[in-house]
Amino acid sequence: MLKGCLRMKVGIFDSGIGGITVLKTAIEHLPQIEYIYYSDNLHVPYGTKPKNEVVGYVKDVVKFLVDQGAEAILIACNTATSVAVKELRTLYNIPIIGMEPAVKLALDDNKEGKVLVTATPLSLKEEKYKNLVAHVDHQHRTSSLPLPELVTFAETKDFDEERIEAYFKEKLEPFNLDEYVGIVLGCTHFIYFKKYLEKFLPEHIKIYDGNEGTVRHLGECLGITQIEHSVDPKITFYYSGKKCETNEILESYLKLV
Ligand code: DGL
Repeated sequence: MLKGCLRMKVGIFDSGIGGITVLKTAIEHLPQIEYIYYSDNLHVPYGTKPKNEVVGYVKDVVKFLVDQGAEAILIACNTATSVAVKELRTLYNIPIIGMEPAVKLALDDNKEGKVLVTATPLSLKEEKYKNLVAHVDHQHRTSSLPLPELVTFAETKDFDEERIEAYFKEKLEPFNLDEYVGIVLGCTHFIYFKKYLEKFLPEHIKIYDGNEGTVRHLGECLGITQIEHSVDPKITFYYSGKKCETNEILESYLKLV
């Protein structure tokens, strides 16, 4: 434990519990930070709502976290990043780290073959995603697929294997999976379904996400180069503005990642 030592406070948020998958990576790699996790449960899902509405929610959450003393913000939500990161960086003079679907990672890792990018409908519609693909996918090897129902499954803790398998079967049916070498999970809620996808997909398809890269970037932005193995993580958990006195919900989701 760090005794008498002030920890840096980082605000981390998502529309709901998807960002807990990022928090898990963050506490493994950067346990010396004090995290304030905000789950915007009153407004989840973000990914099927109009952009302006989501921008409003995101601005409120970031203001709340800064008021709690956050010295940096980790947007553990691809959708919120897509619609608001640019504006947030003009509003606050602190590091604001966003998420991006791991399209580059998947393409670089496979010199040929197709890559399927999954995300929320709003993320896939946004300019940010289109620019990313234009920038990294010169050979036009990516296709995209919105999977908004996975957000609902995760939020309601519906992890029924048969139902999830039937869902993947229906959604992936139009794609010839023999042509694909990678699938990108471009929404933090989707990480809860990684093990189901691993079972469902043919073995040659690899699954990619942006969690590790984002946490590495957070460490770099904060000038942290070392993991403090002896430090216990400190997390305060807010459910739509209400502080949770116990971390029961948080811990139950941490176990599912
Ligand atoms: N977890 C979020 C993301 O990474 C958003 C899911 C939603 O609220 O639709 O995009």
